[in-house]
Amino acid sequence: MNHEVVEKNVGVLAVFIVLVISVAGLVQIVPLFFLNETTQAHEGVEPYPPLEFAGRDIYVREGCYNCHSQMVRPFRAETERYGHYSLASEFVYDRPFQWGSKRTGPDLHRVGGRYTDEWHRVHLMNPRDVLPNSNMPAYPWLAARELNGEQVAHRMRMQQRFLGVPYNDDMIESAADELEGKTEMDAVIAYLQGLGTAIERTR
Ligand code: HEC
Repeated sequence: MNHEVVEKNVGVLAVFIVLVISVAGLVQIVPLFFLNETTQAHEGVEPYPPLEFAGRDIYVREGCYNCHSQMVRPFRAETERYGHYSLASEFVYDRPFQWGSKRTGPDLHRVGGRYTDEWHRVHLMNPRDVLPNSNMPAYPWLAARELNGEQVAHRMRMQQRFLGVPYNDDMIESAADELEGKTEMDAVIAYLQGLGTAIERTR
């Protein structure tokens, strides 16, 4: 009888649907906030050093995530191709994360160390120079633009202050000097070369 009231009244039905989804969602999500496995950095995972940090911002700016995921799933077809599946504890300093959901190109979470810096440089200048059929866009301007060290240091400071990323002050203060004369291309390559390498190092 009561059920009929719910079924015949769209407003009441909507309220119940929202209630059920909210409770079910919280039951799944809340425990994750308290698991060490999802909140503590995996051994070997450190906050991004300045150059990689800058590269990460450029990766976001250029929209690389529109074609590349950074999430190796625990399936044999993926682990054989990319390496160990991704762990939540590898992403604790990724603010925001770059998991993505679109794979026009390959997953990049374990691309670190797979190619040389020079390979990446040629590939980013023009992907067709290494893979004639590639449909990845070219990013030649990265090589022509110098990093703004002060801006990167400021961004690191923000991550430290508001997101709790454990940078120490020395690291932030020396960032601008460290980035002197480096290009956006250097930064993106450093970022790519660091991706997913913490786990290999500790195994
Ligand atoms: C329009 C889609 C698209 C965008 C945007 C894109 N890529 Fe790609 N990417 C691809 C495709 C397709 C491939 C495979 C062919 C190739 O290697 O060029 C690829 C391959 C790669 C590879 C080699 C991966 C491997 O395991 O062989 C790297 C590294 C890479 N992309 C980095 C980037 C970066 C960095 C950006 C942003 C600056 C970017 N891509 C933007 C489509 C894209």
